[in-house]
Amino acid sequence: MIEVEEISKVYTQFKRSSGVLGAIKNLVSREHTLINAVNQISFTIKRGEAVGYLGPNGAGKSTMIKMLTGILVPTSGKVTVNGLVPHKHRHEIAKKIGIVFGQRSQLWWDLPVEDSFELHKRIYKLNDAEYRKNMNVFLELLSLKDFINQPVRQLSLGQRMRAEIGLALLHNPEIVFLDEPTIGLDVTAKDNIRAFIKQMNLDRKVSILLTSHDLKDIEEICPRMLIVNKGELIFDGTVDHLKSNLSMEKIITIEFVIDPGHDFEIENAVIMDDYGIRKTFKINKGLNSAIDFIQSVSKRYPIKDFTLQDSDIEDIIRVYYRSLEDVSANGSNQQKQMSVV
Ligand SMILES: Nc1ncnc2c1ncn2[C@@H]1O[C@H](COP(=O)(O)OP(=O)(O)OP(=O)(O)O)[C@@H](O)[C@H]1O
Ligand SMILES: [Mg+2]
Repeated sequence: MIEVEEISKVYTQFKRSSGVLGAIKNLVSREHTLINAVNQISFTIKRGEAVGYLGPNGAGKSTMIKMLTGILVPTSGKVTVNGLVPHKHRHEIAKKIGIVFGQRSQLWWDLPVEDSFELHKRIYKLNDAEYRKNMNVFLELLSLKDFINQPVRQLSLGQRMRAEIGLALLHNPEIVFLDEPTIGLDVTAKDNIRAFIKQMNLDRKVSILLTSHDLKDIEEICPRMLIVNKGELIFDGTVDHLKSNLSMEKIITIEFVIDPGHDFEIENAVIMDDYGIRKTFKINKGLNSAIDFIQSVSKRYPIKDFTLQDSDIEDIIRVYYRSLEDVSANGSNQQKQMSVV
């Protein structure tokens, strides 16, 4: 459905000097730097898959979405969406895809929301029955009925995003690209939008490519994640896959039968909290070693109970991003070793 083969995008950024002299200088000299926003990335996405596209600011996520939707032409490499090259077949592709940019509106600012939908219906040549069917679903599920007659400029951010998402799905696209669809929204609005996207993915088998800095979006909608950093793809897999590839810190609380005392010491762990009979440890290994750790403690001190606090996706990604920073500080060789791609 989506095939990306060694695709790259290099931007040319011209240096601009300020002031009057600078303006004159800008006219004569064209000093520039090249930015490798996307660097030789390959992946495929199948029909009905929901994939999260993650990475720190400036990693090249929006650039990738723009190439996949035909807005930008790649510098090199191959992209096909449904067998078509996006920037060469923008009209054909447009019928198959929906796009939501959290930072940019596709609605007509001064017109009532419904007018943008009517216009979209004509552009995409939807028949009345299809239009009504989808509108009825969106009026309910996205609660568009609350503001369908209001001009877009009067909408709250949450209402506008609901309208944007409905509009992107109106023509029954097979793939939807969402670039930060929940940016700036409150918790309830985010939940509603996530639930809707997920339902469209499951019920209509719409493929999803979603970028977001809110990892809950990815966790709830996308079983698969692609992580990019500085233009390169560094991970392709599931959250569990990522977890098992990182040595995460584990927090274990153990309740002893009797207090082992304060001079209690054990290898591979630091005591974080000590309430005598109940102590909390931080161990610096994966799940297997957590079990090893409990076994080795219980050999010496009888244990009544224990709890293992698992890291959530936020922690995992934080550790992952931190490890990337360490890698770039120590040269790039290690990065290849860490990557799972
Ligand atoms: N039109 C452009 N001209 C020149 N450089 C650009 C252009 N668009 C993006 N860039 C640069 O390319 C790099 C990747 O930008 P991009 O917007 O794709 O990142 P992103 O991963 O979407 O970041 P964010 O999480 O902040 O949205 C950045 O260094 C950015 O400054
Ligand atoms: Mg972006």
